[in-house]
Amino acid sequence: MSNIFLIGATGGIGSRLGPMLVAAGHTVTGLHRKPEQADVLQGKGIEPYQGDLMAMTAADFTEATKGHDIIVFSAGAAGSGPDRTTAIDGRGPVKLLEAARANGISRLYLVSAFMDARRDKPQKEGFEHYIKNKRQADNAVAASDLDWVIVRPGTLVSEDGDGRVNAGLAIPYGTVARGNVAAALACLIETPEIKREIIELTDGDTPVGDAVRSFIR
Ligand SMILES: NC(=O)c1ccc[n+]([C@@H]2O[C@H](COP(=O)([O-])OP(=O)(O)OC[C@H]3O[C@@H](n4cnc5c(N)ncnc54)[C@H](OP(=O)(O)O)[C@@H]3O)[C@@H](O)[C@H]2O)c1
Repeated sequence: MSNIFLIGATGGIGSRLGPMLVAAGHTVTGLHRKPEQADVLQGKGIEPYQGDLMAMTAADFTEATKGHDIIVFSAGAAGSGPDRTTAIDGRGPVKLLEAARANGISRLYLVSAFMDARRDKPQKEGFEHYIKNKRQADNAVAASDLDWVIVRPGTLVSEDGDGRVNAGLAIPYGTVARGNVAAALACLIETPEIKREIIELTDGDTPVGDAVRSFIR
């Protein structure tokens, strides 16, 4: 069983993923920024760690992630402005990379975004900046020597999902339930032989376990 540090533990994906990991027998520490979120995390069997991604440095993350085997990054600025997008979606994973290296943590799971998202729709302000930052974080992680996995979900919907997805190296764009993304991440974490992969993910017809295991080479 692993010690997992979950960034974005209170988010739509993270709040579903944390309990899945605990149920699988892992020890999970969840980053949260508001004091009142500590009780909620503890109630789910997750050890709370308070900190703000904007303010935390790579050295702070090195301290926070000491003793962990796996880092999961599922935080996001959620359209709260370009500076926050740069700091959270762009620089956040890079700080975690540094912390992973400093602590000898080899496994990093990054929730990125589907690069083709919304190409056929009028772009919302800041969206191109968001995609650019997601791409830059992916570039840094993919260039590292860690055993990383990058998951690029389509547009997220706030549902638990039916456990059926489409996962592939290059698939048609679509939506995906946050619960299905969490289930795919949980399954990836149970399958450490899947590494150094970028996986596109939408809702689909394949049971999530089968879809994930199709990446075993
Ligand atoms: N929205 C989409 O359609 C879409 C599509 C593809 C990929 N994604 C990506 O999927 C990931 C997860 O999405 P989601 O919907 O689960 O996210 P979400 O519900 O918006 O949650 C974001 C998480 O990040 C945390 N966070 C934000 N700013 C923080 C800070 N300064 N310090 C510490 N934690 C902070 C939030 O904490 P609080 O609880 O304190 O807010 C929350 O736990 C994100 O990386 C997002 O970019 C989104």
